[in-house]
Amino acid sequence: MVVFLVLLCLPFIFYLLKPKFRKMLSSGVCTSKVQLHGKVVIVTGANTGIGKETAKDLAQRGARVYLACRDVQKGELVAKEIQATTGNNQVLVRKLDLADTKSIRAFAKDFLAEEKHLHILINNAGVMMCPYSKTADGFEMHIGVNHLGHFLLTYLLLEKLKESTPSRIVNVSSLAHHLGRIHFHNLQGEKFYSAGLAYCHSKLANILFTQELARRLKGSGVTTYSVHPGTVDSNLTRHSSFMKWMWQLFFLFIKTPKQGAQTSLYCALTEGLESLSGSHFSDCHLAWVSSQGRNETIARRLWDVSCDLLGLPLDW
Ligand SMILES: *[C@@H]1O[C@H](CO)[C@@H](O)[C@H](O)[C@H]1NC(C)=O
Ligand SMILES: *[C@@H]1O[C@H](CO)[C@@H](O)[C@H](O)[C@H]1NC(C)=O
Ligand SMILES: *[C@@H]1O[C@H](CO)[C@@H](O)[C@H](O)[C@H]1NC(C)=O
Repeated sequence: MVVFLVLLCLPFIFYLLKPKFRKMLSSGVCTSKVQLHGKVVIVTGANTGIGKETAKDLAQRGARVYLACRDVQKGELVAKEIQATTGNNQVLVRKLDLADTKSIRAFAKDFLAEEKHLHILINNAGVMMCPYSKTADGFEMHIGVNHLGHFLLTYLLLEKLKESTPSRIVNVSSLAHHLGRIHFHNLQGEKFYSAGLAYCHSKLANILFTQELARRLKGSGVTTYSVHPGTVDSNLTRHSSFMKWMWQLFFLFIKTPKQGAQTSLYCALTEGLESLSGSHFSDCHLAWVSSQGRNETIARRLWDVSCDLLGLPLDW
């Protein structure tokens, strides 16, 4: 009887202790005091969640922040909100649809004409578990947006980053990369497709690229990092408050978007991180990468295949 009562009370005890758990389990906080006056930053997918919180923090530090969003109207609302809370007027919205190479090229062209420098690029945008679909250029959506879209964007902006050293590129990947595999004969899900796995594959591709890019950028003053933001309280459960309650009750380790932004900020800002270029971070600490994620042969081949798909020179 007593045991039964205790069991019954357990959820409530958990519920009461949740803020404590949350704090404990999301220990990673970016404590850098770096100010960014005169610095220029791009955050992709900045109109919601982690991207928005990342942009807000960078604006708070005085940077000129470009919110690169697919939905410009929504982006403008977010920009206003960030301007109001940070007092920084230099929060700008630009159209960027990573599922369309034309849009990526147009974004880059305008940015390069507009700005002399780019100090921080945060490749944050991503799609997750969408049903099989294709980008404007015919790439499978996950690999197309999460990997190839950011690959092209990074390529187009790299000269500017090199001219603005010390500069940094941060790629938001995921713990999910552990389940990812690069199947070169099925890169676009032509032969078999699972929405969940396609996400994992694309996140593994992010990690491989961070490493390959770091190797290529050695000595250039541009450094690159990939991060796992944590499991973030997204809008998955928005349609049911009961589900939301259950979700929060049982997934005590779930982070708020603000907590989810901490590792991206850590990699973008922390002084002295340069020697760890190419590394993967989680909770503001170095993190373990799957064996495929450390394989240089696969990273090289994926680089070549990606250049091929996008019509880019192999050596950049
Ligand atoms: C979640 O969904 C609600 C209702 O649709 C919306 O008001 C809110 O802004 C969304 N939050 C995020 C982080 O997208
Ligand atoms: C980020 O990921 C994209 C897509 O995988 C890749 O093209 C780019 O080189 C990566 N950049 C960094 C800094 O890791
Ligand atoms: C890297 O991957 C290739 C191809 O899958 C494999 O043959 C090779 O053994 C791997 N190398 C390491 C160091 O794991």
